Order: sequence, then structure tokens, then C-alpha cells
Amino acid sequence: MHNSYKHPTARQWHSDHSLRDTNLVYPIFVTNTPDEKTLIASMPVNFRYGYERVVEELKPLVNREGNRLRSLMIFGVLERELKDPEGNCMTSSPVIKTLQNLKKEFKDKLLLCVDICLCGYTDHGHCGVLNSDGTINLEQSNQQLAQMALLYARHGADVVAPSDMMDGRVHAIKSLLAQYSFKVPVLSYSAKFKSCLYGPFRDAADSAPSFGDRAAYQLPIYGRDLAIRAALRDVQEGADFVMVKPGLPYLDIIREIKNIVRVPLAVYQVSGEYMMLHQAAASGAVDLKSAVLETMESFLRAGCTIIITYFTPQLLDWM
Ligand code: PBG
Ligand code: ZN
Repeated sequence: MHNSYKHPTARQWHSDHSLRDTNLVYPIFVTNTPDEKTLIASMPVNFRYGYERVVEELKPLVNREGNRLRSLMIFGVLERELKDPEGNCMTSSPVIKTLQNLKKEFKDKLLLCVDICLCGYTDHGHCGVLNSDGTINLEQSNQQLAQMALLYARHGADVVAPSDMMDGRVHAIKSLLAQYSFKVPVLSYSAKFKSCLYGPFRDAADSAPSFGDRAAYQLPIYGRDLAIRAALRDVQEGADFVMVKPGLPYLDIIREIKNIVRVPLAVYQVSGEYMMLHQAAASGAVDLKSAVLETMESFLRAGCTIIITYFTPQLLDWM
């Protein structure tokens, strides 16, 4: 077979896709301290930004020549004192002012996706509202999540992205948005596994559960058919895009879902994957750029067109 990929151009004939800046979504963490810029301890190359700081920090990336920043995934980090059992503090979320500032500055140059979940907003750190026995109250959870989607849609979100894994939330969100005539698409974290790779993120977002774990709502890591069912169900409920998360350990799931749904597929290269690559490079085991580009290739090959990655700024240089 060597002859079939000997010449560089012939080699490209074996590729049916290539990475573009429009494929990349950059996750950012925003706070209520207006001008804050704090290094995140668990991800020591990333910062939390105050809602007034975000624009100037992103400007060079958005206005870059050639490849430029096209899209964000925005996470609000709430003060501990504000948090409550139902996540009602969403009305004081820094995401609101961040959306307003970004829209004012960049208009439609930047696609603003917002994470919809309660774990960063509740005092117990779970992704839904709880019953008194600690189990999930689905009805109340979906109500709150839909309210959050409406709130952020109202303030300029271009895409709402529920990451909570509550059954029926896509339907709840779509219905409420339609009721108020908001034409905002839903990017559903459909196949989100109960992974050990979210640790650095939970530190960054201050969203770790204060007791128990997320096994009652996130998928078991061996749950291949559950992942397929979740994706099909979300598409049926009107999801415009579906996601698999984490990325690299779940490429098989990405491809299987790609083969059966007819909506664009997203992958989240999560905080633990990000740090694994950084640490491997720091130890000299791999070259960071080559390793990261190889993971991007794997996501495209598996069938994704939306890649949520903390490497976005570096990738704009490397592509
Ligand atoms: C919260 C949420 C998590 C991530 C995104 N949204 C983590 C969790 O389930 O606690 C993980 C992202 C990452 O690790 O980078 N629903
Ligand atoms: Zn959550």
C-alpha cells in the first residue's frame, strides 16, 4: 500500500476532512469580580476572568489574521455565598454580563455557547434539584434548567448547551424557548459519561458535588447502548447538535452515534484529557503540538465537526 500514500498530494487523497477554525469551541470561566484574572490551580495555563475582563483578553484571538477564534463555551463561576439548593442564584450569574459585553464588542463575529447546568449554582454541587432523600427531582430540575436557558437566551446566548444529564431536559428547554419565541439552538451533552477526567474542571468551576457522585445521572463508562439511546432520544426531543464527552476514550461512541443521527456531532476534550497531554509533554514523553493535532485528527475521523477544547488558542497557531 505504500505507493498509495508516497506522494504528499496523494497522501491527502486519503483525508476526507481537515481542521478549520470554525470546528473549534473554546471553554472559558467567568466570575463576578469584574476585572479578575486568576490562574486556575488545577489547569495552570488557564484563567478565570471577570466579566469586564473577558473582552480585552479575547480580542487578540477574535481579531487574529487567518485562523481566528470563532466560538466560546461559557461557564459561570458563582460565589459560594450566593449558592442555594435550587440554583436560583442564576439571576446573579456573571454569564449574563459576560454575554452582554461580548455581544456588544464582537456582534456576530463570535458564536456564544453557554453551558446549562445547576452544579455550579447549587450549594450541594449536584447537576439537578434534589428531593429531601438526596435523589434527583426531575421535574424541578428540568424547570430550573429551562429557566436558565431562557435567561441566557434573553441576554444574547447563540447556543444553549445542557450538560446536566437530566432525562427530558432537551424537551423542557426547547418548549420554554419556543413559548417565548427564542430561536436559539440546543447543543445537548447527550452522551456524557461518569468519567474520572472532570477533576480539573470542577476545581475551575467550583462545581464538585459536596456528597455522593453523579452516577445517578451521568452514564456508566461501559454504557454503549445507553449512549446511543440518549443521542437518539435527544435528537427526537429536538436537539440541534449532540455531544459525546469525554473525547479520546470514547471515539467508538462518537463514530457509532455519527452513523445513526443526522445532526452535527460535538466532542468535548475535557479538562483531564487536556492535563494528560500537558503533563505528557512536560515530561518529554510526547511533543505537545503533534500530540494535540493527532487528537484533533481522531475527532474529525470519528465524525465530529464541533470540537470543544482548551487547546483552541494554541491550535489557531498550529493549524
Ligand atoms: C458540569 C460540567 C462538567 C464538565 C462540563 N460541564 C463536569 C461535571 O460533570 O462535573 C466537564 C468539563 C471538563 O472536565 O473540562 N455539568
Ligand atoms: Zn453539572
